[in-house]
Amino acid sequence: MDEQLRRLLGAVAPTHDDRQSRMLDHGVAEGFPTVGPQVGGVLRLLARLTDATDVFEFGSGFGYSASWFARGMDGGRIVLTEYDDEELALAREFLDGAYGVDFVFESGDAMAAVGRYDGPFDVVLLDHEGARYAPALARVREKLEPGGVVVADNVTAGPVDAETLSVMLDTEEDPLVTRDEPWDVDTTTEGIASYLDLVRSDPALETVVLPAGEGVAVSVRVG
Ligand SMILES: C[S@@+](CC[C@H](N)C(=O)[O-])C[C@H]1O[C@@H](n2cnc3c(N)ncnc32)[C@H](O)[C@@H]1O
Repeated sequence: MDEQLRRLLGAVAPTHDDRQSRMLDHGVAEGFPTVGPQVGGVLRLLARLTDATDVFEFGSGFGYSASWFARGMDGGRIVLTEYDDEELALAREFLDGAYGVDFVFESGDAMAAVGRYDGPFDVVLLDHEGARYAPALARVREKLEPGGVVVADNVTAGPVDAETLSVMLDTEEDPLVTRDEPWDVDTTTEGIASYLDLVRSDPALETVVLPAGEGVAVSVRVG
C-alpha cells in the first residue's frame, strides 16, 4: 500500500483503552498477529452500526478483536473460538466481566463450535485460516438475517500474495475451477481468492474490501 495512505490510516485509527493497551503490548511482545487498531476500529463500527447483540468469531487468539467488538456494543454476547487453550485462557483473563458484554469462550475448532449456535448473528469475524474462510461462510450464511455482516481479515496482505490474488480475481475464466493448469499459489492465497469470488458472486451479499490493516472484506446480507 502507498506509504502516505498507510500513515494516514494509522494516524486516524482509534485509540486503545487501558485494557486494550495491555493486550496490544502482550501481542507485540509475543509477535501474535492480531487484527490491529485499524481493523479494530472497523469491528467496533460494525458492531455499533448493526446494534450488535450477537457476535461470533472464527479465531480469537487472546481476545483483542473481541475487545473491539465489545466497545461498540451495549450488552449482548460475543462467542470467541480458539484452538490454542493458552490463548483462550488469556482471553478469559483479559475480558471476563469487562465491557458489560457476555463473553463465551469456545475451545477447539471454530468450524465445529459454530454448529452449536443457531444465530442469527449480527456480525461474524473470519480470522482463523484463509483456506477455511469459504467453508466458514457456508456455515454461517443461513445464520445471518438481512443486515447481518461477515467481515474477513487479511484479504489483501499478510499471509496472502496480493499480486497473484488480483490476477486470479481479474480473470475472465472461473478463477478457481475451470483453469487448465492449476494456479501455483499457497493454500491461503487460494483460499482467500475462493472466498472473495464467493462473496462477490452471491446475490444475497453486498461486499466491499477496505484497505484497513491487512485488508478486510465486509459483506452485508441483503436478501
Ligand atoms: C490471526 S489469529 C486471531 C487474532 C484475533 N482475531 C485478534 O485479532 O485478536 C488466528 C487464531 O486462530 C486460531 N485458529 C486457527 N484455526 C482455527 C480453528 N479452525 N478453530 C479455532 N481457532 C483457530 C489460531 O490458533 C490463532 O490463534
